[in-house]
Amino acid sequence: MMVAALVRKAFNFKRDPEVMTFAGAHGLSDTSALIMLWTEGSIHTACSSKAYLRLLDLSRGKNLLSACDGVWPHYNQVIKNRKKCILDIAVRRIQDVSQVIIFGAGMDSLSIELASRTESVMIYEVDSANMGLKSTMIGRSGADLRRRIRCLESDLRNTADVVNTLKVSGWDDSKPSLLVFEGISYYLDRETMSNLVSLFATEKRQNVMILEYLLENDLIRPDRRHIPRMVFDIIKEHGSVQITRYAQDTIQSCFKSIRILEGHTLKDMEKCRCGYNRYFKTDDDGWINVLCATV
Ligand SMILES: C[S@@+](CC[C@H](N)C(=O)[O-])C[C@H]1O[C@@H](n2cnc3c(N)ncnc32)[C@H](O)[C@@H]1O
Repeated sequence: MMVAALVRKAFNFKRDPEVMTFAGAHGLSDTSALIMLWTEGSIHTACSSKAYLRLLDLSRGKNLLSACDGVWPHYNQVIKNRKKCILDIAVRRIQDVSQVIIFGAGMDSLSIELASRTESVMIYEVDSANMGLKSTMIGRSGADLRRRIRCLESDLRNTADVVNTLKVSGWDDSKPSLLVFEGISYYLDRETMSNLVSLFATEKRQNVMILEYLLENDLIRPDRRHIPRMVFDIIKEHGSVQITRYAQDTIQSCFKSIRILEGHTLKDMEKCRCGYNRYFKTDDDGWINVLCATV
């Protein structure tokens, strides 16, 4: 079925800009709600994360969920694998830093999960939308979280503003930071991503970056290429965003200041999360990778 038809079937609406807004019952964006519906509360399981997740109304993501699941009913496995992989890397690497920055954080609970598992690390979340609302909701989850998590509104395409906003909010560029790019690299062009990462480059490579990215088409098994293409087309049609993909060589040329420490395909992530490989038996069965690098 054509992507547009899938979307219309799932949404059962006319193309009305009022209907296609990103504001949910709690101002929660549809794509953010979609990711959380796919995750089913199975990855961020600290008490505070669960309490925060209970406050969210995910109903805005349900139509997107049924459209995307119509493309491939196992898409939730991709999201759970990626979230578990990123959480595990962050928990390991957070020992070496005193600050975390989560770019394009949305309403996701990673910040709360990391704050719950550490005692003093400061966490800065940057997104172009919903950060005031998220701050209020985190505030309801406890004083310690309110003190340690800062939700900042800034457009990542305006890289200078991102750094200024962070500094004004207490981020200290002389101290080591963990930079998390989850669910965001495909919505920014390569130049923006390259500029953003270069602003956090340090002489001693004291910062650590976790980057999740979408693979170039020819690196994906031919009979599976349609899955990410159609899912991102559905999200694109819904939110009018561009999609950027990477390969090993474009990663190297885009992020000149990084030194890669570890890289994971969906095959690795599934094995790590489930203990076996069911949907991703070879490296080219998947379409997203996660890497960790010093910057
Ligand atoms: C799919 S959600 C990912 C949320 C979360 N990181 C996760 O992985 O679950 C993408 C987020 O990126 C944000 N975003 C997209 N373009 C952005 C931009 N130019 N500047 C800041 N945030 C942006 C959206 O507002 C949204 O919250």
